[in-house]
Amino acid sequence: MLLEVRDLHISYGDIQAVCGVGFHLEEGELVSIIGANGAGKTSILQSIMGIVSTKKGSVIFKGREISGLASHERARIGIRMVPERSRVFPRLTVYENLLAGAYGLRKKIDVEKRTEWLYSVFPVLKERSSQLGHTLSGGEQQQLAIARALISEPELLLVDEVSMGLMPKLVDEVFEVLRQLNKEQGLSILLVEQNVVASLAISTRGYVLETGTCAIQGDAAELADNPRVKEVYLGH
Ligand SMILES: Nc1ncnc2c1ncn2[C@@H]1O[C@H](COP(=O)(O)OP(=O)(O)OP(=O)(O)O)[C@@H](O)[C@H]1O
Ligand SMILES: [Mg+2]
Repeated sequence: MLLEVRDLHISYGDIQAVCGVGFHLEEGELVSIIGANGAGKTSILQSIMGIVSTKKGSVIFKGREISGLASHERARIGIRMVPERSRVFPRLTVYENLLAGAYGLRKKIDVEKRTEWLYSVFPVLKERSSQLGHTLSGGEQQQLAIARALISEPELLLVDEVSMGLMPKLVDEVFEVLRQLNKEQGLSILLVEQNVVASLAISTRGYVLETGTCAIQGDAAELADNPRVKEVYLGH
């Protein structure tokens, strides 16, 4: 098992955002967590990344309890996150933004080779490699945010609502890239999404989060067919 989250509790002051969530992800899986606004999706990813602290519960990565590790240490052992509404560095070029993703790594990576590969995955970034971050469109910035996370050769990629604010065609493109990374490169991905149809279409398994607890879980196809999921998230 690559990632196991057990009995996770997260609070902000008196607000209990997540109470008792548990799930796991095998190596090579693409798992979706779906849930409405405020269900606790971002909080869960942030706690795996070590950005918010947990009140109770454990996060186990490759058999090791990592709850005590700082965020940069988790990045070093192979966990990377593409945050919600990702910001790229506005005054750095596309290429410099990519390099920033490789900063501070302990392991040696061939940045040039990795960049060439990322340019082949995201051709628009190659075309715009010397353009400043703030001049990219929203969709291009999302692609850059994903590429910046991938440059470090993560073993687990956490992706927070990457489809938000993108037009449908771009959503399809970004999801197709994630699908290929998972299928062809074997990258393990934990996807948090409100776009239930698109995320389940590329997932192995999924979990439905209802205000801080995992209410339903199952194979992606099974979930897409679940009456409750249909009613609440698909509107039929
Ligand atoms: N820094 C914070 N301080 C106080 N409350 C917070 C904080 N961050 C999140 N919360 C609360 O925790 C709950 C879960 O928030 P979270 O952002 O994890 O939900 P989400 O599922 O990602 O929602 P969305 O789909 O809108 O992104 C919400 O009720 C939210 O108001
Ligand atoms: Mg969120």
